[in-house]
Amino acid sequence: MSTETSEDQADSHWEDFFSEVHAPDNYEESLKKVRALIAEAHETSSRVVLVTSGGTTVPLEQFTVRFVDNFSSGTRGSTSAEFFFEHNYKIIFLYRQKSLQPFLRHVPNALDVIEVDGPCKVKVKCSEMSRLHQLLVQYQSFSKTCLEITYVTLGDYLWLLKGISKELNSLSSRALLYLAAAVSDFYIPKKEMPEHKMQSDKQPAGMVFSLVPKMLRPLASKWAPNAFIISFKLETDRDLLLPKAKAALEKYKHHMVVANLLTSRKSFVMVVECDDIVKEIHNPDASKEIEQMIVEHIILLGLSTFYPCSLVPHLE
Ligand code: PMT
Repeated sequence: MSTETSEDQADSHWEDFFSEVHAPDNYEESLKKVRALIAEAHETSSRVVLVTSGGTTVPLEQFTVRFVDNFSSGTRGSTSAEFFFEHNYKIIFLYRQKSLQPFLRHVPNALDVIEVDGPCKVKVKCSEMSRLHQLLVQYQSFSKTCLEITYVTLGDYLWLLKGISKELNSLSSRALLYLAAAVSDFYIPKKEMPEHKMQSDKQPAGMVFSLVPKMLRPLASKWAPNAFIISFKLETDRDLLLPKAKAALEKYKHHMVVANLLTSRKSFVMVVECDDIVKEIHNPDASKEIEQMIVEHIILLGLSTFYPCSLVPHLE
C-alpha cells in the first residue's frame, strides 16, 4: 500500500502548476534587474538576500473581481530587510503590492506631520523634521543598492520566486533566501475557475480548491541548490509548530526554518536548524523588533566557523 499523501503527490507536480498559471507582466523586466544586481554582486563580492514578504492572493475568477487573501501585513519581511541592509547585504525585496516596505513603513501619516503655515501654505512640523530627514536618507541609500519587486497573486509570487532563485544560485553561499511571505497552500486551477464575475442571481457552483505543490522542494533541489535557504513555518496550534517545522527541514532539505505562531509572532520564534538544533528567540516586552534578533542570529551563524552541520553549504 502506498504511503504517499495527497501533499506528496501535489509536491511532485510542481511543473504542472507553472504550465497552468501564466507568468506576471513584470516577470522579464524584473529578472533583467535581478541579473544586473547579481552581476554587480559578483564584481564586488557582495552577499545578496532575497526577502519575500506579504500575503499572496488566490483569484476566484479568471477576470478577477474576487480573491481569497490572508492576514500578512509584510512586517516580518520589511523589518528584516532593514536589518540585512544594516549588515551590508544587497537586497531583493519581493513583496505584495501595497504591503509594508523597508523604511517607508516608518513614514507617518502626512496629516500628522504637517501644519498650516499661512493662507495657502503648509509646512512640515519642526518636531518631525529630523525624523523624516533621517528616514528619507535611509530610504534613498536602501533604494540605491536594493531592488524592490512586487507581486499580487500566488502565481505571480511563485513565478518570480522561481526565476529569481535560479539566478541567485550562481552566487552560491553568498546568496540567502529568506522566505517570510505568507504563501497560500490552496488555489483554483484555471479549468475549475469561472471566466467572468460570478453573478449574485445564481447559486455559486461549489469552489474546487487544489493543493499548491510545496515549492520548497524544487527550490532547494533544483532552482537554488547552492544557496542558503531559510523558510518560515506558520501555525495557529502550538502543538503542531515544532514537529511541522522539523518535518519541513527534514523533507525539503534546506537549511533553516523559523517557526512562529500567528498570535505570538512578534514576541517569540523558534529557529530550527539541521542536527535538530532549536534556538528560541524571545522578545517579551517588544523592546526591540524581533526581526533584528532573527537577522542577528543568522548573521552570527554565517560568521561562526563552528556551524555543526557539515552538509550545509557555509553561509558567507
Ligand atoms: O507579514 P507579517 O504580518 O509580519 O507576518 C509574518 C508571517 C507570519 C507571515 C511570517 O513570519 C511567516 O510565517 N511566513 C510564512 C507563512 C507560510 O506560508 O507558512 P506555511 O506554514 O503555510 O508555509 C511554510 C513555508 O512553505 C513557507 O516558507 C512558504 O514559503 C513555503 N511554501 C508554502 C506554500 C507552497 N505552496 N509552497 C511553499 O514552498
